[in-house]
Amino acid sequence: MIVLNDGATIPPIGLGTYALSAAQVLSGLKAGYRLLDSALKYGNESEVGAAVRRSGLDRAEIQVTTKLPGRYHGYDKTIEGFEVSLRNLGLDYVDLYLIHWPLPRLDLYVDSWRAMIDLRDQGRVRSIGVSNFTPPQLTRLTAETGVTPAVNQIELHPYFPQAGQRADDEARGIVTQSWSPLAEGRDLGRNEVVAAAARAHGVSAAQVVLRWNTQLGAVPIPRSGDPGRQRQNLDIFGFTLTGDEMKALSTLGRSRRLWGADPDVYESY
Ligand SMILES: NC(=O)c1ccc[n+]([C@@H]2O[C@H](COP(=O)([O-])OP(=O)(O)OC[C@H]3O[C@@H](n4cnc5c(N)ncnc54)[C@H](OP(=O)(O)O)[C@@H]3O)[C@@H](O)[C@H]2O)c1
Repeated sequence: MIVLNDGATIPPIGLGTYALSAAQVLSGLKAGYRLLDSALKYGNESEVGAAVRRSGLDRAEIQVTTKLPGRYHGYDKTIEGFEVSLRNLGLDYVDLYLIHWPLPRLDLYVDSWRAMIDLRDQGRVRSIGVSNFTPPQLTRLTAETGVTPAVNQIELHPYFPQAGQRADDEARGIVTQSWSPLAEGRDLGRNEVVAAAARAHGVSAAQVVLRWNTQLGAVPIPRSGDPGRQRQNLDIFGFTLTGDEMKALSTLGRSRRLWGADPDVYESY
């Protein structure tokens, strides 16, 4: 388990749930995932909640993350957006609540952060964090509220290794979570550096890339709707990449995001 700066713990890997059905999320829980990454924007919080209930597991055994979309930025709107998520999920608390994007043009993320601090203090959210926040935006949150996010969920895969943002998160005591940790499964499997490490350890390309994420100290949240690949993606703790392999994977960086979502300008509502 990974310890957060508020004392809570999270598993070292979670299941991305974008576009997954309740049955697919349920198969993830059966495979052993205990951290589910969801968002109001994905439109399937109700599927995630249904899977939690159908799993038969104790609610306390499963950690559910969801995220505040741009249309609910601002103090009152954040409380309202949270209520919508809770209703969709059919749960009475959320384990980790994140601001999905900073949206600097709106300039309301500090107000949203104040609302999230209150939700945490009321026990309706266990831990609070952000997604896609840059160092200056993180500095503002802490300077204006005194509360540093527990987590920053960012795009992170060998094609976009984010060394600077990761080091900055670490220096602030923030745990980095990796979104699209498999680079959306695009062509990493065909990359020779990844393939060589996979051959050396007798594992798949996806396992190499996820292990690279965890050895960097990040928490990947790979998405798969397939029970076999869900199990495979969890099975990454029985081998260790060498220092040379880690370095070679990190040099695949292209300083280009998958779909150009730069937090300083990206708009998402
Ligand atoms: N905070 C944000 O702004 C943000 C943005 C994007 C994503 N996210 C979160 O991050 C999660 C993961 O990112 P993502 O869904 O964009 O991409 P991803 O996890 O990098 O890749 C998912 C793709 O890889 C395939 N795949 C999974 N495991 C595989 C394996 N072992 N071998 C080969 N292919 C495999 C999947 O297909 P199959 O389903 O067929 O296995 C799927 O097409 C999302 O679901 C979401 O929860 C957050």
